Amino acid sequence: MLYPRMNEFRDVLDLSGFFGFKLDPDKIGEKERWQEGVEGCRDIAVPASWNEQFLDTKNYMGLAWYFKKFYLPSAWQGKLIWLRVGSANYYAKVWVNGKFIGEHEGGHLPFQFEITDKVIVGGENMIAIAVENELSPTRVPPGNIPAEDKSSSRNQLYPNVHFDFFPYSGIHRPVYLFSTPRNYIEDITVVTDIENKKGIVDYKIIKQGGDGERGYVHLVGDKVKLYKEIEFRGNLAKGRLVVEDASFWSPENPYFYELTVELCSSKGIIDRYSLSIGIRTIEVRGNKLHLNKKAIFLKGFGKHEDFPIIGRGLNHALIIKDFSLMKWIGANSFRTSHYPYSEEMMDIADKEGFLIIDEIPAVGLFFGKGTERRLTLCKQYLNELISRDKNHPSVIIWSVANEPHSTKPEAKHFFKELYQHAKNLDSSRPVTLVSMLGLKEQSLEYFDLICLNRYYGWYSEPGQLDLACHKLDQELEELHKIHRKPIILTEFGAGAIAGLHAHPPELFTEEYQAELIKRYCEVVESKPYMAGEHIWCFADFKTAQHSRRAILNRKGVFTRTREPKLAAHLLKRIWAGS
Ligand code: GCU
Repeated sequence: MLYPRMNEFRDVLDLSGFFGFKLDPDKIGEKERWQEGVEGCRDIAVPASWNEQFLDTKNYMGLAWYFKKFYLPSAWQGKLIWLRVGSANYYAKVWVNGKFIGEHEGGHLPFQFEITDKVIVGGENMIAIAVENELSPTRVPPGNIPAEDKSSSRNQLYPNVHFDFFPYSGIHRPVYLFSTPRNYIEDITVVTDIENKKGIVDYKIIKQGGDGERGYVHLVGDKVKLYKEIEFRGNLAKGRLVVEDASFWSPENPYFYELTVELCSSKGIIDRYSLSIGIRTIEVRGNKLHLNKKAIFLKGFGKHEDFPIIGRGLNHALIIKDFSLMKWIGANSFRTSHYPYSEEMMDIADKEGFLIIDEIPAVGLFFGKGTERRLTLCKQYLNELISRDKNHPSVIIWSVANEPHSTKPEAKHFFKELYQHAKNLDSSRPVTLVSMLGLKEQSLEYFDLICLNRYYGWYSEPGQLDLACHKLDQELEELHKIHRKPIILTEFGAGAIAGLHAHPPELFTEEYQAELIKRYCEVVESKPYMAGEHIWCFADFKTAQHSRRAILNRKGVFTRTREPKLAAHLLKRIWAGS
């Protein structure tokens, strides 16, 4: 799915700002035709969660309506007109001028509809988007699951989620209107490879509309200007460009080429789309992860999209702040735990040369009733995630789940299916599962590398770091002996209340968090088959209410407002060597 871009053939109108907003707890809106407009709305900011913008929506997971009037410029006459929502958590239904357009399930990936025959060009229009985030065991991620399927009876959370972050709700990313020509470039897929100094760029282009049987593809860089005529067979054109003496994309040198596709008819160029591409390869070879044929080690974090007031909403300044802190600390990588992050953040990751484990929102999975439906949803999310992020050089691994409760036999089939589904969509990247079961995880055999979350010294062996590190060391050795694959420790850490100190270190103090992280990094970095260390977590973040959470999960090495704890300074010494 291409991101809306403006050029001489295409226009974009960002509707971000204030929308009309009205709660619909009794779900009467559709019957009462709210899609044609309704009285009694208040203003709400988009993009942003609704939970912290008002006092009566904090834990509201029910149905709410968004309304926006907009004027479509006459210049859009004769074009195809589209409506695109960057993400709406969890389920959205869309109307334009009172006419139903479509619906989408899943709260962290974009969806779009062609609305040409529903809008008035050169006149005023209105969109209505109804969003709800009801927690259900047959949704992904799940909530309100039956007691027999709960990971532990102690886990009484409010709202009753089966995962450890707050279920922020609403329209979290931009709502765009955009236009394309009637004959247009629908999608571009780029897969790169390297052969000695050569850069290989394989492209696949899909067009729509009867006109435009041919076109051109251009690749431009500092020292190169290539172009090639393309021939469509039906709607598809494929081909290869080879860059002699290429500049490869890497964390040290995130170099971009500009790839431009032009669609032509007898009248000349009828559509154009450009995207920045990085030439690089990623593969598992033996015990290591190889970027551009060289072994790499991932240093970084599990993160969340989370901040006061905006909740999970897109915020450009926060994205820039987080990357500046990750560069300051010497990180080169992060995981989009536990859901796809904004396209805007992925673009900056490309530019800053970060390496990303890109994860679908399959957290808190369990294998009781509804397993088939959850599998269908996970496959949909993989389709949408890979369609959205496949051209990002920063994305190096797909993660199909975080910490599934996969002790039941049906989990094996579930993950074999998901692994194969991801590979069929993109064979150019390794696919993983982030496990908490470790040696007891039944499906690790299917995955290209192992990602493990471990909290010895926190949830078990509290305060006993020698014992904790011994257990970690033993388990990593055993896991590698069985699977003979690279292992990334994708979560480890400890809660620390900023400003709380103890000497010698004790749980919940900054000293204990720093000491645990230091000792874990020593164990991980002592093993040749370890491909990375991701601390949990980059910054404190909001969770559901729970007797073990003082409003926030406090395992961040930064506070929620991004102030460094002792552990941040320690990590800077370990990772940035200063
Ligand atoms: C798990 C889980 C995280 C959670 C963390 C914790 O590993 O993946 O989402 O926040 O544990 O308990 O802090």
